[in-house]
Amino acid sequence: MRVFVTGATGFLGGALCRRLGADGHEVTAVGSAACDLRQAGALERYSDTVFDRVYHLAAWTQAGDFCLRHPGEQWLVNQQINTNVLDWWRRRQPQAKLVCMGTSCAYAPGLALAEENYLAGEPIASLFSYAHTKRMLYVGLRALAAQYGLRYLCLVPSTLYGPGYHTDGRQMHFIFDLIRKILRGQRYGEPVLLWGDGWQRRELVLLDDFVGLMLQLEGRCDNQLVNVGAGEEFTIRHFAGLICQLTGYDPRRIDYDTARYVGAQSKCLDTAKLRALLPQHRMTPLAEGLARTVRWVEQHALHPST
Ligand SMILES: NC(=O)c1ccc[n+]([C@@H]2O[C@H](COP(=O)([O-])OP(=O)(O)OC[C@H]3O[C@@H](n4cnc5c(N)ncnc54)[C@H](OP(=O)(O)O)[C@@H]3O)[C@@H](O)[C@H]2O)c1
Repeated sequence: MRVFVTGATGFLGGALCRRLGADGHEVTAVGSAACDLRQAGALERYSDTVFDRVYHLAAWTQAGDFCLRHPGEQWLVNQQINTNVLDWWRRRQPQAKLVCMGTSCAYAPGLALAEENYLAGEPIASLFSYAHTKRMLYVGLRALAAQYGLRYLCLVPSTLYGPGYHTDGRQMHFIFDLIRKILRGQRYGEPVLLWGDGWQRRELVLLDDFVGLMLQLEGRCDNQLVNVGAGEEFTIRHFAGLICQLTGYDPRRIDYDTARYVGAQSKCLDTAKLRALLPQHRMTPLAEGLARTVRWVEQHALHPST
């Protein structure tokens, strides 16, 4: 197949492009330097190729309290990116199936994190703007599919983890932050201070598992939103305990800073639809995925400058 990938320089995009290339597909991969999707017309130069798939992964966001501090910019930038991509898809690549990414942040607290609730209720205040840009992406997919007969798949993952994360000093997703702090505590005797009281719960999906599921799902369902989660969540204290076992750090030396931003208290996706679509699928066990990730952080992302 001929495939086009936005967000190809990102954590997910890199892994997806490697897998698509290994599977023998002809991949056109772009990041923001090659193709700034805020600019209308940025995609025109790719219009002459007829793509079978467009993977739209680009988004302007970071982990931690980034969304809290950039709600206006996030609204502008992500709306521009998504509008430009969907417009190009409709005009120049209508034969292509568009596979893109939603977010679990779009779900409102108090409602089940099930696909039928994706547009229901109000997302938490700190993620309100970012969450709505992802909701609007889904609204756009549905609207264009309804009016122009286009095909899409929108996937909503839990937090992705695994080797190959960013090492450029940006705010890290919680699991990488935890691993790095504990590794540094063990190696350099630094104090380990984690955000929140440690009782907030999170769900993780290993990057390679997600890429595999993405490729299976895109062949099976048209014009759907599908949650991709592990089906279980754990407290930050549990994750920290596992990382301590892997690194030899004493968990009693970890302190918690309850004044810091923690986001949602719990985020566990309802995965009934995923299990119905792919009943045989199995996620890599958390301990195994964490062991791989700890090894990677130790080798690539341990130092403060990274
Ligand atoms: N990682 C997760 O746990 C997670 C969870 C839920 C949903 N998602 C979604 O999955 C997708 C990929 O996530 P990720 O973790 O791989 O994100 P990431 O590592 O932050 O990568 C984001 C990508 O978007 C590109 N981008 C940003 N602004 C752009 C612009 N103006 N023009 C063109 N490209 C631009 C970046 O390009 P440059 O690096 O070249 O600037 C990068 O390739 C995103 O849509 C995200 O919302 C991720």
